Amino acid sequence: HETPLILPSLLAADWSKVGSEVARAEEAGAQWLHLDVMDGAFVDNISFGPQMVGVVRKASPTMFLDVHLMIHRPDHYLERFLKAGSDNITIHVEARYDTSVADTLKRIRAAGKQCGLALHPDTPFDAAIPYAHMIDLLLIMTVVPGFGGQPFMEKETMPKLEAARDYRDAHGLKYHLEVDGGIYASTAPIAKRHGANLFVCGTSFFGPSDARTAMTDLTASVA
Ligand code: DX5
Ligand code: ZN
Repeated sequence: HETPLILPSLLAADWSKVGSEVARAEEAGAQWLHLDVMDGAFVDNISFGPQMVGVVRKASPTMFLDVHLMIHRPDHYLERFLKAGSDNITIHVEARYDTSVADTLKRIRAAGKQCGLALHPDTPFDAAIPYAHMIDLLLIMTVVPGFGGQPFMEKETMPKLEAARDYRDAHGLKYHLEVDGGIYASTAPIAKRHGANLFVCGTSFFGPSDARTAMTDLTASVA
């Protein structure tokens, strides 16, 4: 979990040309791509579903697809996201489940994929402790989930990120620490200092016209 990675978030890409946007991220050196699934119920916005994951998978057979499910009943929809080509599936601890968080994490791993748990800015780190030994990734949301382009909630979320890192290191665990929301070359170093190694970048990556320069600047900020 030491190597910092910049993850372009498809939410901020130009969806009129998804295939070439994925290629642009790939050519800029992205190894992981972040896909935000929103259901209009768990969050106040609707984005896309498993079909889009399949489109991205088709556009790039090698990109690691990090799928962030901001939806209720992720366990009900799980097979569809697995089948579409997800490499990591992150579920929210605050969502409603037909089964349970633990059962859903186990099913993702049983399918041979990585699993993550996400925490809303209002949710304390303690909520993740029961699952800490079962996850590959812990996502500390640094904005209220639902929309790109919001400001980084430093004061509200950095103590939690640090707690997540300290707990991991004290217990010999290995989960990645991912931050998502308001990450720029100015804020990524703050998150890095508090333990993050995966940096989701929507506006800061897809906003500028030159993706290579955006990637270089973001990568340098956490080097
Ligand atoms: C927010 C999403 C983020 C979003 C980040 O609900 O989970 O992944 O794309 O966008 P920026 O980087 O613009 O804050
Ligand atoms: Zn996200």
